[in-house]
Amino acid sequence: MKFIFVLCCALLPICVHAQDRDFTLSAPPEITDTGFLPYVLPRFSLKHGARVSVIEMGGDVVIGPDGVPVFAGLGTVWHVSGADGAGPALFTKWLLSDIGKRTIDGFQPEGRALFSSQVVAEELAVEAIFEGDPVLGETLSLRHCGRCHVINETNRMKGMGQTPSFALMRTFDDWEDRFSTFYVLNPHPSFSQVEGITPPFRAHLPPAIVPVEISQDDLDAILAYAATIKPADLGEPLQSQ
Ligand code: HEC
Repeated sequence: MKFIFVLCCALLPICVHAQDRDFTLSAPPEITDTGFLPYVLPRFSLKHGARVSVIEMGGDVVIGPDGVPVFAGLGTVWHVSGADGAGPALFTKWLLSDIGKRTIDGFQPEGRALFSSQVVAEELAVEAIFEGDPVLGETLSLRHCGRCHVINETNRMKGMGQTPSFALMRTFDDWEDRFSTFYVLNPHPSFSQVEGITPPFRAHLPPAIVPVEISQDDLDAILAYAATIKPADLGEPLQSQ
């Protein structure tokens, strides 16, 4: 019996070891829908020889609002919490390591990073809770604001000359106030209406250009999206912003 036991250990050390580290993981649909996990997990597994199975709920490791902050994106900071097993501990450590961070930042469906490893900076930026849907917010920003403002890479060439880009405006300490009141800040009042907030355009003074007409929910979504935008690096030449 003893002999068999020793033999097993000799033949299967890696196997046994790896199984110790295997764990299950669950994440909310916002994250699983993006394809982030199939991008990140194999890279972690390759490095640490631990298998991670994604399950809908109640995983050993849970990505959500509680625990250690590990990455930011979609308008919030994501944390990991879960069993203190070898695998989960390694996973948390890996996410916070340089290679883990590069992996997080390297996930760029459609050429744009969806998540950022810069948790500390982002955590400050998204301190306020944005109730809107950032994904919808991106579409709405491009549709309504993208005529004049550069929103992101998608309309980089379409903004209007001197109009500040969203990334540039994200550098303002009070960006949130300005975005949430854009309709009273020039030049917007003459062509913008937020349903239930602004009075209708006066009949004798119709807007000279195609108006921006949005609802309060639309504005919440735009704010939630703006919160996910990385503020422009003002060290770079301004014309490239
Ligand atoms: C027709 C062009 C146009 C559209 C459409 C437009 N903006 Fe602007 N916006 C401007 C210009 C031009 C400025 C710069 C004003 C200045 O520098 O005084 C500006 C400035 C701003 C500012 C900074 C204002 C301040 O005083 O600090 C915010 C915030 C803003 N826009 C948000 C938005 C949002 C949100 C939308 C879409 C819902 C939007 N804008 C749509 C032209 C536009």
